[in-house]
Amino acid sequence: MSDKFWSNEAKKLDWFKEWDKVSSGEKPYVKWFVGGELNASYQCVDRHVKNGLGEKIALYWESESGESQSFTYNDLYIHVNKLASGLKNLGVKKGDVVVLYMPMIPQAIFSILAVARIGAIHNVVFSAFSYKSLKDRIIDTNAKFIITADFVLRRGKYTDLKFIVDLAAHETSIEKVILIKRTDKPVAIDNKKDILYEDLISKSEGYCEPEHMESSDPLFILYTSGTTGKPKGIVHSTGGYLTYVNSTFESAFGKVKDEIYWCTADIGWVTGHSYVVYAPLMSGTTMILHEGAPDYPDPSTWWKIIQKYKVSVFYTSPTAIRMLIKLGQEWLSGFDLSSLRVLGSVGEAINPDVWQWFFEHVGNKKCPIIDTWWQTETGGFMISPKREYGIEKLKPGSATFPLNIIDAQIVDEHGLPLPDGYKGYLVIKNCWPGLTLGIWGDNKRYEETYWSKFKDCYYAGDFAIKDKDGYFWILGRSDETLNIAGHRIGTAEIENAVIKNHMVAEAAVAAVPDKIKGQDFALFVVLKTQSENTDIIKTEIINTLKIEIGALAKPGKIYFVDSLPKTRSGKIIRRVLSNLLQKQDIGDLSTLENISAIENIKSVIR
Ligand code: WTA
Repeated sequence: MSDKFWSNEAKKLDWFKEWDKVSSGEKPYVKWFVGGELNASYQCVDRHVKNGLGEKIALYWESESGESQSFTYNDLYIHVNKLASGLKNLGVKKGDVVVLYMPMIPQAIFSILAVARIGAIHNVVFSAFSYKSLKDRIIDTNAKFIITADFVLRRGKYTDLKFIVDLAAHETSIEKVILIKRTDKPVAIDNKKDILYEDLISKSEGYCEPEHMESSDPLFILYTSGTTGKPKGIVHSTGGYLTYVNSTFESAFGKVKDEIYWCTADIGWVTGHSYVVYAPLMSGTTMILHEGAPDYPDPSTWWKIIQKYKVSVFYTSPTAIRMLIKLGQEWLSGFDLSSLRVLGSVGEAINPDVWQWFFEHVGNKKCPIIDTWWQTETGGFMISPKREYGIEKLKPGSATFPLNIIDAQIVDEHGLPLPDGYKGYLVIKNCWPGLTLGIWGDNKRYEETYWSKFKDCYYAGDFAIKDKDGYFWILGRSDETLNIAGHRIGTAEIENAVIKNHMVAEAAVAAVPDKIKGQDFALFVVLKTQSENTDIIKTEIINTLKIEIGALAKPGKIYFVDSLPKTRSGKIIRRVLSNLLQKQDIGDLSTLENISAIENIKSVIR
C-alpha cells in the first residue's frame, strides 16, 4: 500500500533513471526509490524550461533596502548553470560539503541549486548564527568551500558576515571563500582564499551537466539542536526527500503552480529548504523571497508585499503573527489582501486566538489556515490539514490529521497507545521518504535519539493529544529543547556556553511562556565564589551566548542562586525552576536532594 502510494508520488518528478525498487531495508535506514537517478536542480529549473515555462517568473525578490528584482525560470537556469560550472572549475566535487552562510538574497537560491546540480552537499548555516556556531559546523563536516556575502541586512543594520567567515575559516578546513558583494562597503580580501562570486561566474561555462544522483545520495545537511550541547547534522536524501516535499506541498496547499506563493521562513531553517526553495520551485510556481523583518521599516511591510504581488498562498509562523498583533491592527488597514486564498503556519502550535486573528484580519474569513506540524528530521509536513478540507473541517489550534499515509500515534512512557484525550508522546509508526538519512557521521546518536525510546517507531520529541474526533493537538517538546520564536535551541547548548565563563560553576535553563516568542528562558547561575560584580558577569554571560550560539540565545532574565535543584543522582530538575518562576505548584519533590535550594531560589526570584 505504502509503496504504491509513494511510487505514484515519485512519478511526479523527472527521473533520469527509474527506480528498481520503491523501498528496501529496515527502519530507521529504509532506502527509497532504489536504483533511481535524478538531480534536484534539474527538478526545480531545467524541467520547467523544457516544458515551456522559461519565461514565467520563478522568483520576485524584495529587500528592506528598497531593492526588488525578478527572475524567470530561464534566468534561474542561467544563474544556476554558471555558478555550478564555476564551482566545478574551483574544484568542488560530487559529495563535497559546501557551506552557505548567506542573507535572503537571490544568490542564496542559486547557490543551493548550483551545489545540488554538481552533486555536492549543501550545508546552510543561518546567517544570525555566531562565529562559533559556524566554526563548529564547518569542523563537523570538514567542508573546504563556503559561499557567503559581505554583509547581512536586518532592520536597517548591516552585520559583517565576511568578517565572521574569515574568523571561522582561519581555524578550519575552509580553503575557498566565494564572496557575494552585497554592498559597496569595503571588506578584507585574501587573494589566495577569496573569490568574488561575480568573477567566478563571469569566467564559467553557460551549461553544466546536472550530476545523475542516486536517490539516496545526500542532498543536504542541516544542523538542529538536540538534548546534548552538540548540534546534530541532519542529512537528507535526494529522491526520497524531493518526492516527499513535493507530495506534501501539494497535499497541504493544493496546486499552487498558477498562484503566487510566499513562505516567510529564512533559508537557514528547514522550512526555508523544503518550502522556500525545493517544493515551490519543483511545482513551477512564482514565489516571493523577502530580505528583511515583518516590522521593518514599519509593521505593514508584509501586507504591502502581499498587495503588490497579489500573493495567494502565505505561509508564516505564529511568533511573527503575535508580534504583528501586538503592534496593532491599524497597520493592516487600507491594504488589499483579497488575493489570499490559503494561509499557513509552522514552527509551533498556533494559539486559537492568534489563529482567529490571522483568519479574520489577514484571511478575511475566507482562507483556510494550514497548520503544519513537522521537523527538520521529517523533511516535510507530517500532520497538517489539506487544502481541500476548506474551513469547516478545521479546529483552531489543531494541526488536524496525519497527512496521507503517515501513521502518527500518541503513546505513554512504555510506548503503549493512549486513549483519545490523553497527553502522551507523539510517535510515527511507519516510515516515509522524507525521513532523514541520519545524523552526519553519527549513526549511533541517530539511533539513540530517535529510535531507542520506543521500539520500532520514530520518537519525535513532542507531546501531543488526539481528541475524540481524531484531531492532533501538539503540546510542545517532551525533551530538553526550547522552542523560541519557532526556533529550536537545546538547554544543554545554552548551559554549556554559560559555564565557559570562568566565574560560573553551574547553570540551568528554565523555560517560561512568552506572549510573542511562544517560549523564552531564564538562566539560573551558581557562581564559583560570591561576587559583588554580578552586573558585569551578567553582561559577560549575555555576550558569551551571543558568541557561542547567536543572537537567538538571549536570556529573558539571569538569576544568581546558591545552588540548583537536583536529584540524588545529580540531575538538575529544570521543571522546578520553571514552576517557581511561573508561581506554579512545584509538584512532587521526593526525588529532590537539596530541598534547601528552593527557599533561596524563591527569595532570589522575589
Ligand atoms: C515544533 C520546523 C506545533 C515542534 C518545521 C517540532 C510545531 C519542532 C509545529 C520542529 C506546529 C513545528 N505545531 N509545533 N505546526 N511546527 N513545531 O526542526 O516542537 O525547526 O518538534 O522544524 O517545532 O522544529 P524544526
